[in-house]
This record gives sequence, structure tokens and C-alpha cells, in this order.
Amino acid sequence: MKKIVILISGRGSNMQAVVEANIAQAEVVAVISNRADAAGLQWAEQYGLATETICHQDYAGREAFDTALMARIDAYQPDLVVLAGFMRILTPEFCNHYAGRLINIHPSLLPAFPGLHTHQRALDSGCRVAGCTIHFVTAELDCGPIIAQGVVPVLGNDTADALAQRVLRVEHELLPQAVADFVAGKLVVEGNRVNNLSMADIDDSIFLKN
Ligand code: GRF
Repeated sequence: MKKIVILISGRGSNMQAVVEANIAQAEVVAVISNRADAAGLQWAEQYGLATETICHQDYAGREAFDTALMARIDAYQPDLVVLAGFMRILTPEFCNHYAGRLINIHPSLLPAFPGLHTHQRALDSGCRVAGCTIHFVTAELDCGPIIAQGVVPVLGNDTADALAQRVLRVEHELLPQAVADFVAGKLVVEGNRVNNLSMADIDDSIFLKN
């Protein structure tokens, strides 16, 4: 059984998708938030999961917070740490500590639009497609070997919110699949590429339409 710790900051719909996928040989051992008011925490508690809040404002700086966060995560001895809407930039020490077992979901087709406001930036750039990326986390923000990407069309009358909703539906399919592939040992990192031994299985999901 592989142990998974999920980090969230807000709604937690991607965390929920992973939990509800009931991935074989995987157990979500804790959900940790940097915000006590994260709606996803309540959901996780009601589901019966262990939850914790480690408020970044209680720490003098990024290093101190990340050190405390690592200690709490490591208490669960996770095989995988999933950033599911965790809105903190992590220190290189944190990223290195979990190298190869830390994944993030980002709402753009990386390497386009790292950082915030991805959907508005996609619209402003006149993109005809948008989407999401799941990647292993390295010290550079929103970089790291790409595990999976999902694509949706950009429609003529799209707003950032409408596009975000369309992308989110794909996120909810791709993230549990990526976690399942990790748990099954199907993700082989070679340099900056991920060789997904089950790629044939996810070909259809890459081109999900709204
Ligand atoms: C998602 O769009 C995710 O890609 C981004 O933040 C959002 C979190 O949504 N990193 P939720 O908390 O999972 O509902």
C-alpha cells in the first residue's frame, strides 16, 4: 500500500477527485492545508481523513514554514506528496527533499503560463486550446517532468471562469489517473521526460472535449 499526503489551500476539488477514485494499493493518509478556512479540509474531515492545518503566517519566513511542513508530512512517511491547489511557492530544500515523489497540478499547458491567472492569460494570448498539466515538482516554479496534460478548446465567448470550469473537469480525470500510474510504478523519469508505461491507457483522456 502506497501512502499519499495531499496538500491543499482552498476548495480541494482535485483532492476530492483523488480520494473518491479509490486508487488500488493507495491510501490517502493525510490532507494538510496552509489555511484553516480551506473548504477542502472540511470535506476531508467529514470523509474521515486525517487533516492538519499549518498556517504559513505563523512562521517567520518561507524556510521556517517549509521546514515545519516537511516535519508534519514526514510523520506520515508518504510515498507520494500531491500538491492539489496548494498555493505556496516551495523552497528548493522542500522540492529536493521530495524529489521524484512530489507532483503538482497546474491549470495551463506548461511550459505556457506558469504562475497565476493562467486562464485569463490564455484568453489574452488568443490561445485556441487550453488545459492542465500534471508534473513532478522541481525547484523551478511550475517546471519539472510532465506526467500528463489535458486539452480543452477555447470558445469564442469564453471568460476566464468558464474556461477554468472546462479545464477543471479534465483536471479531475487526469490527476487521479496520474496518481494511479505513480502508485502502480508506471512513471519512469528520464531526464526531463516521463515515460508513462500506461500511455496507451490515457491516450483518450488527453483529448477530452468539453
Ligand atoms: C486547480 O485549478 C489547480 O489546477 C490549481 O488550483 C486549482 C485548485 O482547485 N493549482 P481545487 O482546490 O482542487 O478545487
